Amino acid sequence: MSVPATAKRRSFLAFLMAASVLAACKPTGGGSATATTGPIVVGEFASLTGSEAAFGQSSHKGTELAFGKLNQAGGVLGRPFQLLTEDNQSKAGESATLVKKFLSRDHVVAVLGEVASGRSLEAGPICQAAGIPMISPSSTNPKVTEVGDAVFRVCFTDPFQGRLLAEFARKTLKVHRVAILSDTASAYSVGLAQFFREPFVAGGGEVAIELKYASRDKDFKAQLTAIKAAGPEGICVPGYYTEVGLIIKQARELGLTIPIFGGDGWEAPQLIEIAGNDALKNTFYSTHFSPIQDSPQVREFVASFQAKYHEVPDAMAALGYDSAVALAEAVKKAGSTEPDKLRAALAATDFVGVTGRTKLNAQRDAPKAAVIITVEDGKFKFLQTIEP
Ligand code: PHE
Repeated sequence: MSVPATAKRRSFLAFLMAASVLAACKPTGGGSATATTGPIVVGEFASLTGSEAAFGQSSHKGTELAFGKLNQAGGVLGRPFQLLTEDNQSKAGESATLVKKFLSRDHVVAVLGEVASGRSLEAGPICQAAGIPMISPSSTNPKVTEVGDAVFRVCFTDPFQGRLLAEFARKTLKVHRVAILSDTASAYSVGLAQFFREPFVAGGGEVAIELKYASRDKDFKAQLTAIKAAGPEGICVPGYYTEVGLIIKQARELGLTIPIFGGDGWEAPQLIEIAGNDALKNTFYSTHFSPIQDSPQVREFVASFQAKYHEVPDAMAALGYDSAVALAEAVKKAGSTEPDKLRAALAATDFVGVTGRTKLNAQRDAPKAAVIITVEDGKFKFLQTIEP
């Protein structure tokens, strides 16, 4: 996709306008949520560095691509979007600080973020207290939107993801006795372990052993040795790719060749780098999007993403894109960026995005289909789609 010079100039001008407004620390016009002219300022907080850098970087690219396209088409209400992006370094505590700054200094119209549920849970109450809408692209823990009517997401939640993993394990992998190894330091992991365990056991499955680790751990041999001794037929690891990659590698080193499976937190090219291609044989995860899905929206998105970033988009990129589109649709529908009107319009979100139809339910969640991915020859391979 090539951006016409006029559009480039327009967004650069918008950028300069907003930059000078922000630098003055006294937002007028475009810097205020109730402004009716000037750029629509949006704050995105993301893990651009640190242990989940792949999440933030990918999600940011999708978001940036969407706003670029929207601005190229003239923005909404005749106003361009201006995206402010801040890095929380994948660290706890940082997101709260960044989001407070977005609200008090930058007077953003809306906040976009985060991928990881733990960091969305940090920022949600701050946005809720201010009445400024926050849209999480891809946090799946149910508690994220339970914070209140200012917090939205454009993805499915973990009760669905846990259930589909339980069913996939029983029906497709044909495993009936499993081990669960989850991350006590991650709200996402603790939740998904529970949302997997309950339907798995209710459906006649057995949990042979359940063990824990904590984010940033590097050595999982003690847990894996105990798992091996318990003799399960499969291992469920609802974690993030950095630790999951090491867990898979070390499991294979200990001679555990049984299927290992988990959720969307596995998704990152680094999973393959960390675990290695051989160790990833017989591993599976569920996620939100596959670039090979055949719809006009996906084809157009994959082509424009590849043209801009020279890589194939993943689930975080697709949901980052859809989170920006959801906001733009709501501003258009509200005819305003005024917080009350924007929240009401967001609650009525219903559009067909690159991750499918995004229709928010009464909990401000977006039930939609999941996909199962495996790794073959060093590449992620689409296996099946599972409807909600
Ligand atoms: N759903 C995960 C969470 O809530 C984050 C995630 C989404 C990771 C999509 C990868 C892909 O923490």
